[in-house]
Amino acid sequence: MLWAWRIAESELATSLPRRWAHSQGVAGQADRLVRVTGDESRALAAAAVLHDVGYAPRLAVTGFHPLDGARFLRDEHGVDERVTRLVANHSFALLEAEERGLREVLEAEFPLLEDQLLFESDVLDGSQWVRLRNEGTRTTLTLKQVTDATSIHGTTEIETEVGDLDAMAEILTNLGLHEVRYQENFREEWQLGDVAFDFDTWPDLPTFLEIEGPDEPSVRDAAARLSLDYTAARFGSVDTIYKTEAGRDILAEPTLLFADTRKSAEPATASQRQ
Ligand SMILES: [Fe+2]
Repeated sequence: MLWAWRIAESELATSLPRRWAHSQGVAGQADRLVRVTGDESRALAAAAVLHDVGYAPRLAVTGFHPLDGARFLRDEHGVDERVTRLVANHSFALLEAEERGLREVLEAEFPLLEDQLLFESDVLDGSQWVRLRNEGTRTTLTLKQVTDATSIHGTTEIETEVGDLDAMAEILTNLGLHEVRYQENFREEWQLGDVAFDFDTWPDLPTFLEIEGPDEPSVRDAAARLSLDYTAARFGSVDTIYKTEAGRDILAEPTLLFADTRKSAEPATASQRQ
């Protein structure tokens, strides 16, 4: 990631040496992940060393460094969208962006937040539901089923991409499905072979890693590569995590929004700058 180092160094080393030292430290941490996941992590490595480039005095346009940095990388260096989105959204930038009146700008230029609409119908049994999800760069439709929330074999998904979220929602409604819930979350997805590593952040929950694979051995292997304790793994869907971790039944709530969290408790991340 020499090009990324050169950009970050030339913007930060002289004007903000401590910021540059911090950036190199973050890059060192990212490098440990790169060794595990190989080429898949090039964007992460670049974003790690570049994440605070927007602090450079000459780049401060809005004064909100994730946005200034991402715009600079996009406009002056033509940096890959995946890298600029990571820079724009690091340390839950959306929350601080909202306080600065920049949330809409940030979301429009560097989207990250996912929107999910969940549907149910009498045709589906109680263990099944349909999810329509805006993932920022694509929309997916998924039939989910959890028959056993205590086992890796108890959760199945049938998923396909759709072109138009609103049109699909209308079709589902006309087919007799009811929209039962709207929820927001942040997800950063990485792929290694046929295993997906999803860093999920939900309102009121600590960020966790979801590992999805074609079979149990592939998931066990993926966890072992990251030195994670498989015996501590949780299965099922996010509503079961809410029940045990937060004592909250989200299935009884029509919406699940980050704004709700902010009303009850100001998150530390809102003013955290690193
Ligand atoms: Fe930062």
